[in-house]
This record gives sequence, C-alpha cells and structure tokens, in this order.
Amino acid sequence: MAKRFGLGHKVAELSSALAGKEIYFRSPPLDPELVRAVKAITPQFSLGTDETSRRVWELSQNGSSWAEYEALAPLFELMGEPGRVLEIGPGMGRSVVFLAKRMRWTTTRFDLYEADGEAQRYPLNAPRSQASFCGDLVQLRRVLEYNGVENYQIFDAAKTGFRLDGLPGPYDFVYSFYGVGFHWSLADFWEEIRGLMSPTAVAVFTVHHTFEEFPRLAATAHRYVPFRRVLAKDRPLNLLLISQSQELLDQAFAPRKTRK
Ligand SMILES: C[S@@+](CC[C@H](N)C(=O)[O-])C[C@H]1O[C@@H](n2cnc3c(N)ncnc32)[C@H](O)[C@@H]1O
Repeated sequence: MAKRFGLGHKVAELSSALAGKEIYFRSPPLDPELVRAVKAITPQFSLGTDETSRRVWELSQNGSSWAEYEALAPLFELMGEPGRVLEIGPGMGRSVVFLAKRMRWTTTRFDLYEADGEAQRYPLNAPRSQASFCGDLVQLRRVLEYNGVENYQIFDAAKTGFRLDGLPGPYDFVYSFYGVGFHWSLADFWEEIRGLMSPTAVAVFTVHHTFEEFPRLAATAHRYVPFRRVLAKDRPLNLLLISQSQELLDQAFAPRKTRK
C-alpha cells in the first residue's frame, strides 16, 4: 500500500550532497513527545515514530548543519576554540551537537537561549514577540544528552524576562539559525546581542532574501555568505556574519570588491 508522506519525509527529498555526509547529530528513537516537539519547530516535516522518520530527521539535521559549517569553514579555520558560545533559538539542538562534535570544541561552553511554546506559523522578519517561542526544553535536553553533549546550559527565556542582556557573556561566537534575523527582526535584538559579544566575536544569522539592513548594522563590519539547503528543492540562502573586526571577516572571506 502506498504510504502518504509529507514534505521532507523521504530521503530522496534531501540533497544527497549534504545528507550523504558524515553523521554527527544522532536522532534518538522518535516517540510521540519528540515527534510533537520536532513538528512544532519544523512544521514542514510530517514524521511518525517509525525508523524511516527517525532516519530522515537525522539526515536532515546533519545536512543542514553541514551546509552552514561548509559556508563558515574559512572563519572556523581562523577562530580558535571559543570559550563561550551563545545560540539563540536552538530548537532541538542540531547545531550544538554538530559543532561540539565536528569542531571538537570540548572546552567550549554552549549557552542556549530558548523557551517552551506552541507550534508557529513562522513569519519573515517580523517584530520581536514573547509569544513566538515554539521550543521544548525537556526534549532539547534529551537530544543533547543522547548525543553526549555535556558542556551546555539552557537559559529559559521565560525566566529572563524574554531578554538576552542578562545572559553571562561575553561570548566569542553567537548564532541564530532560522531564528532571529530570519523569522524575527534582527534590528529588534541587535543592541542586546552586540552588548554580549567579546571584542573579537562573530555573530552569524540565517537571513532570507527579503532581509533589509538597518542603520546600526551598516555601522558594523558584516558579510553575506551563501550556503546550500538540505531539501533538494530549496534555493540557497545567506548567512549574515557580523563582527567588530573587519580584518577577521576580510581574512576569512576575500574583501568585498568596491563598485566602480
Ligand atoms: C525555525 S526554529 C529553528 C531552530 C534551530 N535554530 C534550527 O535551525 O534547527 C526557530 C527557533 O527560534 C525560537 N524562537 C522563537 N522566538 C524566539 C525569540 N523571540 N528569541 C529567540 N528565539 C526564538 C523558537 O522557539 C525555535 O526554536
């Protein structure tokens, strides 16, 4: 009997170039609680508790992380192991797992800013909201522990007044993949994030093609770096890198050509 699959439910829907790479993120066996949590964060997946679903989710999480890693590799080559990293909106933790294992950042402390919440109809570049969280802190912890990640702390945004500025920075690397900068306006968060960054820190955000620069961004060194997507049908997107060090961005990525 033909099985009805939702989008992102077949290995064939994934980019083979990305999904075929070494696996760092391991998905635990999917049970109804984890399926519900994944569905809330990534509604494009219609997963069950079967092994095919587990495998597709695992490959997709790895593939997405490989794509970002490959785009950022020139930067990672220059950066030493960061002391403290902040991830804003880690979802189910794919990036923490990937970076900790792939980069062998064994002493790095990962601070994760997330909150429990209901499934979202994701907006693009929308105003900051306290009601936008769709995480599940119990499942996030479960996935991190299943993957053997130890050096992390989860900061429940609901307990920080939904603000970032009370977090224990400074951070050497800050990122938000498909979160702040993509669904929610980076301009609304930037002053808080900037205040948490060490002088040589780099912040990285997934941005949509409709992303618009804001005045304070123009005053800070930044660079757009394209990356591939794990769903074969998806067009490439950009990562926006921001740093107080223009030199670091220029060293990692060739200096931008001036227009004639
Ligand atoms: C599309 S998911 C991305 C998850 C993960 N970064 C990934 O790429 O797999 C967006 C995440 O941002 C979180 N989020 C929602 N509102 C937020 C806010 N105001 N500040 C920070 N994170 C938020 C959600 O709870 C969710 O985990």
